[in-house]
Amino acid sequence: MKFFPARRLFSIFSNDMAIDLGTANTVVYARNKGIVLNEPSVVAIKIHTKQVLAAGKSAKEMLGKTPENIIACRPLRDGVIADFELTESMIRHFILTVHNDRRTLIRPRMIIGVPSGITQVEKRAVKDSAMQAGAREVYTIIEPMAAAIGAGLPVQEPVGNMIVDIGGGTTEVAIISLKSVVFCRSIRVGGDEMDQAIVHYVKRKYNLLIGEPTAEQIKKDIGSALINEVNAQETIKVKGRDLVTGVPKTITLSAPEVNESLLETIASIIDVVRVALENTPPELSSDLVDRGIVMAGGGSLLRGLDQLIAKETGLPVRVADNPLFCVVNGAGKVLEEMDFFREALME
Ligand SMILES: Nc1ncnc2c1ncn2[C@@H]1O[C@H](COP(=O)(O)OP(=O)(O)OP(=O)(O)O)[C@@H](O)[C@H]1O
Ligand SMILES: [Mg+2]
Repeated sequence: MKFFPARRLFSIFSNDMAIDLGTANTVVYARNKGIVLNEPSVVAIKIHTKQVLAAGKSAKEMLGKTPENIIACRPLRDGVIADFELTESMIRHFILTVHNDRRTLIRPRMIIGVPSGITQVEKRAVKDSAMQAGAREVYTIIEPMAAAIGAGLPVQEPVGNMIVDIGGGTTEVAIISLKSVVFCRSIRVGGDEMDQAIVHYVKRKYNLLIGEPTAEQIKKDIGSALINEVNAQETIKVKGRDLVTGVPKTITLSAPEVNESLLETIASIIDVVRVALENTPPELSSDLVDRGIVMAGGGSLLRGLDQLIAKETGLPVRVADNPLFCVVNGAGKVLEEMDFFREALME
């Protein structure tokens, strides 16, 4: 009979998981399995009983459409926990979903990606939420570190690795060398702010009120950081409520208009990239000339953003494979190789 060392046996039966608790999306990676859940970070609850009616995609569909006794909301805003209780309910709901097919008494060990600008109090809140939701041990890793690992950058080497993670609520830029963060800056600007900018633009220019989900769709369909001959002609039909007459109305929005509405947010993102470059020690800086900048996060999918950043910085820029999963894949890799990546975890 073959004996497994206790630790190995433990890991076979464990439910250890890595979580990217993002403002926009929550992604869960289970040890030895890979990504097992990818849902919008939205919960719908009954107001009086606090009973969770839905979480994830089905809750997102309810955003802005619920009757009085139900709220559908995003408990994380700007990359941090805005509502502790709801976040906990959401995590618990997702963990139960993941565990549906397995009955086991071993409580999971968890690694959670958190924004680099997180305060001690906020970090405590994330850990408490996970513990309340059933975790045995909770580790945190800052998102740009996880994103760099998930993007496959050689973070363990003595070279400058630059990652720009543009999420829903935050944009984080980090220079990483020898599994440590050399410089890191985070701003509470990301895809959500782009959506809000579109909402404001349409309201100001056309007196038309649209919701954020509609704005997000416009951004994904025809949003672009750069206007060229091809996309200059693109248009999209947008439905909303006329602010003057109060009735539903349809307008046509062009790609250059959407681009105009996004310019301010994009400028903030480019600014933070510049600040990081200015603060990079020269030896690492010279590495970046060849290695360039790697982008991750859903916001990096905005068309033309990589080209614009390349133009503004003079460095090569590329979007990582599966940018929406870099953080969770990186945190998952740390979970699988905990001894090797221990330094990458937060204190
Ligand atoms: N094709 C696309 N074009 C532009 N933006 C996109 C595209 N696909 C997704 N996004 C945006 O990416 C954002 C979500 O990205 P991501 O899942 O990385 O964020 P998050 O990790 O939940 O947020 P954070 O890291 O700030 O907590 C949303 O704002 C979404 O609108
Ligand atoms: Mg993120």
